Amino acid sequence: MDTGQDVVYTADRWACGKHTRRGGQKMLTVTPTDKTLGATIDGLDLSQPVSDADFRDLMIALGQYGVLRFPGQALESQDLKAFSERFGDIQGSISKRKSPSECPGVGILSNVVENGAYIGAPDAGQDWHTDMSYRDEMGFVNVLYGIQIPRRDGRVLGGTEFSNMHQAYDELPTELKTRLQDATAVHDFEKFWEHMRQNHGSSRPALTDEQRRLRPPVNHPLFLTHPITGKKVLYANPGYVTRINGIPESESDEILAFLFDYQLQDRFRYLYTWTEGDVLVWDLFGTLHRAIADYRPDEYRLMKRCQVMATKIFDPSYRKSVALEPAFV
Ligand code: SIN
Repeated sequence: MDTGQDVVYTADRWACGKHTRRGGQKMLTVTPTDKTLGATIDGLDLSQPVSDADFRDLMIALGQYGVLRFPGQALESQDLKAFSERFGDIQGSISKRKSPSECPGVGILSNVVENGAYIGAPDAGQDWHTDMSYRDEMGFVNVLYGIQIPRRDGRVLGGTEFSNMHQAYDELPTELKTRLQDATAVHDFEKFWEHMRQNHGSSRPALTDEQRRLRPPVNHPLFLTHPITGKKVLYANPGYVTRINGIPESESDEILAFLFDYQLQDRFRYLYTWTEGDVLVWDLFGTLHRAIADYRPDEYRLMKRCQVMATKIFDPSYRKSVALEPAFV
């Protein structure tokens, strides 16, 4: 019987190290990396429904380690979608160029070409950003399934790199934390889109007026309280943030230039190397990420992705159902 029902977990429930859940029952194992982010979850087949108790443990591990790897999965798109929807609603795309997917909500990221066209988005996320920070309804998690991973001379290519925004906030100069404690920043979808076109040779067309209308710039606090850990994170990313509100433009530019450098320092970073069959779930509040484009057009990479919005994680009844502390929101 599931006895996890009344347990309220906190971020400190698990100390670093390997741990398993509930003696005597089928075990989910969480093995943290020795890096600033990342843990491997063993003992779950994501093609099957995840029990409420296991899901609660995943949620706590997500807050604590930011990036969770589920190795050895064999999933249909519907399985990936069903698992992703446990975290929240999936965002649709406004891009006409997106891949034809057999399953709405499941995107394809790939440089594979069939019948003269990419089967998915070939250059998604290839610089530092936070998915969906450009929306009023922010992103909560990304769920990425690695199906084909490029290799050259035995070396795995096409990794995904992360940066830890809990740690970045913690180590910010106190003076800046105090000065900007109530600040908000503008996030603009078009910034990353144009950056990819102008600096990364992306073949994506300029946004249409209609696409711009669907993704207007939005404001979010610069420092957010994380919905799982209850701790502050630095919620700014070079991909989408254009301006800190309420201060002169020159000052905003100066602080943003500082923050964008600061938040990508080596000590905050974690490079993830893929194996086929991995599912990766990462926390979009507590991390930034980028896809590493170090492979050639003839070295194929194929991933399926669900981008999950924060539609549920702030909802009190959902929080109760995953045994999260109500006081954080
Ligand atoms: C993304 O930015 O969501 C894609 C990351 C990746 O393909 O590694």
